[in-house]
Amino acid sequence: MNVDYWLGKWDRNEIGFHAAKVNKFLAAHIGALNLPAGARVFVPLCGKTRDMGWLLEQGFEVVGAELSELAIVQLFEDLALVPEIAELGDVKWYSGTGITVFVGDIFDVRGDMLGEIAAVYDRAALVALPEVVRADYVDHVARITGGAPQILLTFEYDQAAMTGPPFSITVAMVEALFAPQFEVQLLEDATVEGGFKGRIPAVEKAWVLRAARA
Ligand SMILES: C[S@@+](CC[C@H](N)C(=O)[O-])C[C@H]1O[C@@H](n2cnc3c(N)ncnc32)[C@H](O)[C@@H]1O
Repeated sequence: MNVDYWLGKWDRNEIGFHAAKVNKFLAAHIGALNLPAGARVFVPLCGKTRDMGWLLEQGFEVVGAELSELAIVQLFEDLALVPEIAELGDVKWYSGTGITVFVGDIFDVRGDMLGEIAAVYDRAALVALPEVVRADYVDHVARITGGAPQILLTFEYDQAAMTGPPFSITVAMVEALFAPQFEVQLLEDATVEGGFKGRIPAVEKAWVLRAARA
C-alpha cells in the first residue's frame, strides 16, 4: 500500500471506502470529547469523507491530510468551497472557510503546519495502513497533534479470510499501539451489516483515546 496504490485508486475512482452518509459513530461519540465550539479537529487520511462537512456544520474547524489531490479537489467541490491553494515544500495547502487540508504524505505534515489541534478523528485511516507502518503513523499523528484525544474507528475480522485494506485491528493491537501514550476506552461496537464482501463477519468499533496521565 504505497503512494501509487492510493493515487491509482483515486484515479480509477475505486473508492468503495467512501461512505455516502456521515459515519454514525462520529455523530454518536464526538460528544465524548467535550470539545468547545470552534475546536480544531484533525482528520488524517481524510479522502473526501462527508464527515468533514458534518464536522464543519457542528461548528468545528476541520484540518485534514490526504495524499490524493484529486480527492481534495472533489472534497472542496462537494462542500461548494473554492479553495485557496499554496505550496508548502512537499505538501500542498488547500484552505476554505473553516477548513484546511494538507495534500501530500501524512509523514511530511509537521506540527507547526497544523497549529493547535483539539482532537483527532480517525475513520478508515489506521485500518488503511499495513502493520509495518502503523506504529510510526500512530506516533507521528500523536506528535504533530500534541497528544490530542482521538475518536478512532476500527474493524475486527478474521484477517486470514481477506487481505486488507481495511485491515483487521484487534483489541490487543489497539492497546499495543496506543496504551503507552493514551488511555484507551471502547465506546461501542456493532456488527458490519452483511460483513465484508458479503461473507466475512466483521465488527466495527469506536474508541476514545485520551492522553495518559503522567
Ligand atoms: C481507506 S481511505 C479512507 C478515506 C477517509 N478517511 C474516509 O473515511 O473516506 C484511506 C485514505 O488514505 C489516503 N492515504 C493513504 N496513505 C496516505 C499517506 N501516507 N498520507 C496521506 N494520505 C494517505 C488515501 O489516499 C485514501 O484516501
